Amino acid sequence: MTESFTQHYHQRTKYNPETLAQKSTGLDWSLQPSPYKEYKIGASFDLKLYLQQEARSQTDQWWKRLSLFLLCSYGLTAKISTTVAPLYLRAAPSAGGLYPAEVYLISRGRGLLPPGLYNYQPRDHSLIHFWESDVWSALQAACFQHPAIEHTELALVTTAVFFRSAWRYQDRAYRRICLDTGHLLGNLELSGSINGFRPCLIGGFHDQAMDELLYLDREREGTITVLPLLDLEDHLPASEDFPTALPSPTVTDFPDLPDQQLLSHCHAVTSMSEYLPPPEPNPVADKYNFPFCLKVSTLGPPISWENNAFLDGLEDAILQRRSTRSYTSGNLSFDQLLALLDFTYQPQNYIDTGLDEGPDYFDLSLIQTFIAVSGIDGLEEGCYHYSPAIQELRQIRFKNFRRELHYLCLGQELGRDAAVTIFHTANLQQSIERYGDRAYRYLHLDAGHLGQRLNLAATRLGVGVSGIAGFFDDQVNEVLGIPPDEAVLYITTLGQPQN
Ligand SMILES: Cc1cc2nc3c(=O)[nH]c(=O)nc-3n(C[C@H](O)[C@H](O)[C@H](O)COP(=O)(O)O)c2cc1C
Repeated sequence: MTESFTQHYHQRTKYNPETLAQKSTGLDWSLQPSPYKEYKIGASFDLKLYLQQEARSQTDQWWKRLSLFLLCSYGLTAKISTTVAPLYLRAAPSAGGLYPAEVYLISRGRGLLPPGLYNYQPRDHSLIHFWESDVWSALQAACFQHPAIEHTELALVTTAVFFRSAWRYQDRAYRRICLDTGHLLGNLELSGSINGFRPCLIGGFHDQAMDELLYLDREREGTITVLPLLDLEDHLPASEDFPTALPSPTVTDFPDLPDQQLLSHCHAVTSMSEYLPPPEPNPVADKYNFPFCLKVSTLGPPISWENNAFLDGLEDAILQRRSTRSYTSGNLSFDQLLALLDFTYQPQNYIDTGLDEGPDYFDLSLIQTFIAVSGIDGLEEGCYHYSPAIQELRQIRFKNFRRELHYLCLGQELGRDAAVTIFHTANLQQSIERYGDRAYRYLHLDAGHLGQRLNLAATRLGVGVSGIAGFFDDQVNEVLGIPPDEAVLYITTLGQPQN
């Protein structure tokens, strides 16, 4: 098959040791965009109010659930003093702390939120009602009459303001924007479970119609995901069969673009303007079940998320999560590794605690997991393929990779000192055959979502964790023995945090 644009984009935005130094330009700090969106008009709904006070009525209870849901998704959770202005960190991690995502709510107007459009304002934890007319049928049309929207009164939309991230990461920023949003999707899924909302993931929508519905400036920003919210307090039907991913066309005829134009073109070619039916479910192929290698079962007990009451340990983990800035290079226990894998890849083990047994992803059958073990008690060092279906690690290389990991992660010590490093990869060709160029969004969003579950499991276990989206792409495959047709999407490092 001829190369599609997203394959070209992926190739062009790879880091490699020869070109990285030439490409890296100094940052112009005066151009750093604000991570907040401002609206000149609109009524403000204060959500802080409901965080402290006890909910005495059903109405208060609903507002409290919505307030906590948004706080635990993308709210401000830490303040760092700097010589200029304080820097606020959020519930979801973000590459470089640039927060390209925006969160909107669309209300049908049948419940407590009047109809129209709302933007979530993390700075003062409020909603700004910037458009007061009913847009529900326009939302349904933009989402090709997705069945979940019929069952809901409220939909959440995530968008991206591209330059917030491109300012620092140039063309490669599109990858990070989707990974960041994937982390946000992880929070939405889990804080939804805590607060009685079930987000239904929609990745296939008419991009232009959604952008116009939200009054986005299409040159600078775009819709990334739409999530109608089932209110679990209303006992609405489960969402088993709602499709999450639709295909777009595959673009193989594209101009020879200079650097700095790849990101916007990537967003454009992964856009959709017509409904194409979803592909048949992929039979889960056990592609990397190599014969004669060391195989280790990963079956282990699930993580407990309770402190004093139902799921409050998960809420604490979301609010307390931080990316670890350095590791001691000490080992993690084998049980810690099992618990991290169990929570991330085996959601069915958490149904008794009230978590979603089948949270929405776009298509996890496309994503592979490779794990570099540098310091796990009782587990031989090397690189393993992890099969979530069989719950087994299969060793593909024997070696201590610390020195190489340091190099592959662009010299970041996090790579060298982590006890274990998890790589999410995908075969781009096969993914594009299923979903056209839109696959590129789905893969990075799903990888970020898995990354957020890893982050929260690590936080609960007292294990240090940090994502890494900057790496020498091809060298990762070569050094670790990951098959060359697997494109590396994202890295999560885990280890003993340095205090
Ligand atoms: C997609 C993604 C990529 C990241 N890449 C790196 C990285 O290469 N190096 C690093 O030290 N931290 C990385 N981080 C962590 C961010 O720097 C961190 O999330 C941000 O500073 C906010 O801090 P917090 O996670 O503690 O809230 C990454 C985070 C995400 C979500």
